[in-house]
Amino acid sequence: MKTTILSMLSDKDSYVSGQALCEKLQVSRTAVWKIMNQLREEGYEIESVPSKGYRITKRPDRITAEEIISRLHSDWAARQVYYYESIDSTNNEAKRLAEEGAAAGTLVVAEEQVQGKGRRGRSWVTPARTAIAMSLLLRPGQSENVRLQPAHAPMLTLVMGMAVAAACREVCDVEVGIKWPNDVVADGKKICGILTEMSCEMDYINYVVIGIGINTGVEQFPPELSRTAVSLHTLMGHRPDRAKLIDVCMEKFEQYYDLFMGTQDFTYLQEEYNALLLGRGDRVRVLSPGREFEGISCGIDDRGELLVRREDGTLEKIFAGEVSVRGIYGYV
Ligand code: BTN
Repeated sequence: MKTTILSMLSDKDSYVSGQALCEKLQVSRTAVWKIMNQLREEGYEIESVPSKGYRITKRPDRITAEEIISRLHSDWAARQVYYYESIDSTNNEAKRLAEEGAAAGTLVVAEEQVQGKGRRGRSWVTPARTAIAMSLLLRPGQSENVRLQPAHAPMLTLVMGMAVAAACREVCDVEVGIKWPNDVVADGKKICGILTEMSCEMDYINYVVIGIGINTGVEQFPPELSRTAVSLHTLMGHRPDRAKLIDVCMEKFEQYYDLFMGTQDFTYLQEEYNALLLGRGDRVRVLSPGREFEGISCGIDDRGELLVRREDGTLEKIFAGEVSVRGIYGYV
């Protein structure tokens, strides 16, 4: 009911009559009035004018399931949302739900993660109310017409990177780029990290979970992070509308995902990704277990692999996995 009321009141410039709300929800005026009071207690500022109706004048910076769903424009992504005030890791929870049969498009969101996970076994800190920590469940192995092969799943991380970058540009109006494979970066520092996990057989994907961590409200990072991390708050001068950011991110992801799944590679996304790619044409150092070399970053190919030209002219294809690529003069 709350979700329906929040959706009906999503236009902050017009009033919705109590009558219209009662008819839509099939409940009494008293029931509507009670929900309005609950919403006020949750931080919504709601004006109620006799003969006009209700209007939300201010929404709290919340990312509850009701707030997210009531603002969504996507078709399937995040149509089912699980929200937690605090959880170990949204990726872990999304995997637990996947094992229980949750549908593709299920989104797990948390205000705080106490055991957030980063790439390559690192931890990821998500302090309450200053970030977005969310995980999207996909089942790209189960569609009848297009069955993604496990080897192609890591490319989904790049697809999400593009979606987050597009959402940051559109909602926050900040200039962002991507540090291959999927760090979203502004001002030479990281705004967002993405961790993709998969459950699969040799030739069949059970499910994929894409975890996204966005620094939205942190004003001061601890010294060990301040050289490489930045928040949207710092870039914009104020906190972004997190629910809007999630909405646009889901919408963009759907668009890019369709293009990706059509060919199951980056045929149609390569150009746009390369336009966002930072350090293209620059010297980079590739660090992978047991191997390290330098070369010039030449952008990604249609499999999402980074092409790096070595001094002797050979072109190396770098597959995301365990590899890390660093600029010679800094993080990017
Ligand atoms: C990275 O190391 O850059 C990836 C960080 C991914 C963090 C996100 S936050 C939401 C989701 N849950 C996790 O435990 N990790 C991912």
